[in-house]
Order: sequence, then C-alpha cells, then structure tokens
Amino acid sequence: TRTQDEGDLPHATKKTMADHLRKYETIFTLTPQRMRIVVEAFKETLELGLEKPKQVVPMIPTFVFDWPTGEETGDFLAVDLGGTNLRVCLVTLQGNGKFEITQSKYRLTEEQKQEDGQKLFDFCAECLKTFIDTNLGEGTVKEGEKLPLGFTFSYPCSQERIDHGELIRWTKGFGATNTEGRDVAAMFRESLKTHNVPAELTAIINDTTGTLIASSYVNPRTRIAVIFGTGCNAAYMERVGDIPKIKNLGIDDEAQMAINCEWGAFDSFEHEHLPRTKYDQIIDETSNKPGEQAFEKLISGRYLGEILRLVICELIDEGVLFLGQNTYKIETAYAFDTAGTVDDHRYFTHFFALETTLAERQFFRALAKLVGRRAARLSACGIAAIVSRMGYLEEGCSVGADGSLYNKYPGFADRVHEGLQDIFGDKGRNIVTYHAEDGSGVGSAIIASMTKIRKDKGLY
Ligand code: GLC
Repeated sequence: TRTQDEGDLPHATKKTMADHLRKYETIFTLTPQRMRIVVEAFKETLELGLEKPKQVVPMIPTFVFDWPTGEETGDFLAVDLGGTNLRVCLVTLQGNGKFEITQSKYRLTEEQKQEDGQKLFDFCAECLKTFIDTNLGEGTVKEGEKLPLGFTFSYPCSQERIDHGELIRWTKGFGATNTEGRDVAAMFRESLKTHNVPAELTAIINDTTGTLIASSYVNPRTRIAVIFGTGCNAAYMERVGDIPKIKNLGIDDEAQMAINCEWGAFDSFEHEHLPRTKYDQIIDETSNKPGEQAFEKLISGRYLGEILRLVICELIDEGVLFLGQNTYKIETAYAFDTAGTVDDHRYFTHFFALETTLAERQFFRALAKLVGRRAARLSACGIAAIVSRMGYLEEGCSVGADGSLYNKYPGFADRVHEGLQDIFGDKGRNIVTYHAEDGSGVGSAIIASMTKIRKDKGLY
C-alpha cells in the first residue's frame, strides 16, 4: 500500500527500502575482529615507514622537536593551503596557551588546483600581501624587516629541515603541474620575492603536525592529532632513537620529533588489508590518482558523499528509486556534497529536481550513517595502531581532532570512541578524542616561534 506522502509517482515502499538497507548494512559494517586485523597490519606499516625511506606510508620526520613550552610569544603570519581553501592569518601568541588570531579565507577554484604550481604559490603570495596591507597598521613591518611566516602545506612532503619540503605527490584531488618532486618552500619563497611580501618563510608544516602542537599548547595530555577533513591523516611524537631511518643525522636519540604519518596512503596500490566495496573501487578508478590514498578514500569528506551517491545511482539503475523522474542531475560524479542534509526533501528538489518520500529520505539518512560509521571505525584502527605502538593504552591519552567531518558529521566522535572500545575492550575508554585547536593557523605560528627559539639557541 502507498501512503499519501508518496504522491502520484511510483516510489519504493518502506518495506523495499528496509530490505535494501539490510544489504548495505552488511556491506559497510566492520566487525571488531576485522578491525583488530586492520590494526595489526597498520602497526606493521607504521613501523616499516619509520625504518626505511620512501615507503607507501612515508612516516615523515618533520623536524619539529618536542612539545611547546608556553614560552612561545610574538606575532606570526600563517598561510594555510589546505584541501578546499586558502587561509591567511596573523597570530599573536600571548604565552601560556593564549593567543589572538585575525584571518582571511579564499576558496580555491578547480583550475587553481590543476594549473602551474608556481601560479598557485603566486596566488598565495598575493593574498598574503593584500592581507598584510589591509590588516597590519602602517609601520608594523619596518622598512627592510620581515615577519616570520609559518606555511601550512597539507600534502606529503619529505623534509630535510624545518624550512624545506619536497612534495612527494599531490593528494585530495590537487594536480598542479611542475610541483611534484620539487621543494615547495623554495617555490613559495620565490613567489614571496616576486610579489615583494615582507615575510620570511620560517617553517613548512603539515596540518596534522600543527594540530598536534597547537592542541598540546592548550591540553598537555595530547599525544596524537588527527585531521578528518577533505583528507585524513595523523601526527604524533616519536623518540628520535626509534626512527631508524634518520639515525645517521646525528640527532640526540632522546629528542622527540613529530612524525607526519601520511596514513591516508595506508594500503595503497596492493589493497591487501582494507575492506573495499565496489563503490570504493569506482571512486578510486575514476580519481585523478588511481591506486593512491586508499585509506583516505574510505574516510575523508571528499569521498563520503560520493560513496552515498554511487549507492543511490545503483538503486536507480535497478529500478528501485526515482522511477519516472529525470535523474541526470544526481548522476553527475561528485554532485553529492558530504555536507548535504539528506533527510531534508528540499535538498533533493533544490539540487537534483527530484521528489522523495519520507521512507526514501529515511533510507538515505540511514545509509549516510552507515558510511560515516565505517569511516569512523576505520579511523579508530589508525589511532589504535599508534596507541598500541607507543604504549599509550594503560595511561590513556587525548587525541586532538579537527576537520569538517569530525566537527559537523553527527555522532562521528562517538563512533570513533565505540570503535576504540571494540578494538581494546573497556580500556579503549582511556583514549579520548576532542575538538583540537586550529593547527593550521595557531599551530603553524607556534611552530614558527619554536623554530625561532631553537635558532636563537643555535640548535638548528
Ligand atoms: C591528505 C594530505 C595530508 C593532510 C591530510 C589532511 O591526506 O596528504 O598531508 O594532512 O590530507 O588535510
């Protein structure tokens, strides 16, 4: 029988939708047993990355040493080239975990992500120049002087120093030419020079490293930082003596150095460990980097909406959904925004010119939950691998987390915590994620300041 809500069009009934949901539940559910297997493989991968250079998960030594002390003070500029926006900030560190921040944000166009890399850095330099001119009063930067600048460049870069970073590969859909394999710090310096910007690039950092440092600045129990945004990645502190691949650099074994894991690359190419569905395979094959960022493609905000859309398209093809309606709009790749509210009928009428029933919208909502839950549980596997390697389980620790998925996806943090308990049992409760400080802005400034302090002490 059809309810009134279903109108005149032939819609799927509540029962059909419930049947389908059960099928997808099986496909997207990760059992505790399966999770523990993933954790083991993850741990081995992390260890391999620390041992040898040029591994799939590169475990990048960042040359950010030790935790901030709170001594860090002063004015710092920060440029944050993330996955979606460019942000320019002025951060005033006041000491003791306090700071002030002024910022501007620019949305990047698809073209900017793909055209010549130098042009992209020129754009960053121009935005920084405009920001300085409008926000810093006359005379703030004296003739011939330069302000220290932290550059948050959230892509895998191998580093030899804190102010150097060779782009290993673009991720998150970027593809700017003439950039992979080059030192992006040098490229950005070039653009700063061309545009006469009174800023000195002091440190190049990853958003996860920035988040780790900024979070510990305000919450000293923080041991790990994770970003759940357009991409997904983590950073933590490692004893230098436990990073075999940099032993030859002569750094004190007892020093602590932040490691940017680049865990989004876990299980890339070989695809041996992760439960990938056919939707995940389609996303991978149609991406600009097939085979790469296998873990990230199952988790991050850039792909979750697309997974959902692919399932919906499958049901359209099977003649279950939207019979008699024109579905071309929803059949466009990436038409579905992860931030879209699938239980609001206006979302479908407005963006896709589709009529939906309550039963269908409830189904979409349940499906979105399944996909989000899988992402959270997989991330829990990554966190668990670090926790287990570092022995943080007994004592417990805080995990600073940031990114649109963590902050806006309903119940995401709860699902991560559930996942940790499924892996570790009750002790999993000792690992708690919380909304981190702004790592890409504030973290970048703190690191720039830490770098200055170390330089003044003759340590770099
Ligand atoms: C991608 C990038 C990584 C970044 C993450 C979150 O995984 O490769 O560097 O930290 O996205 O922004």
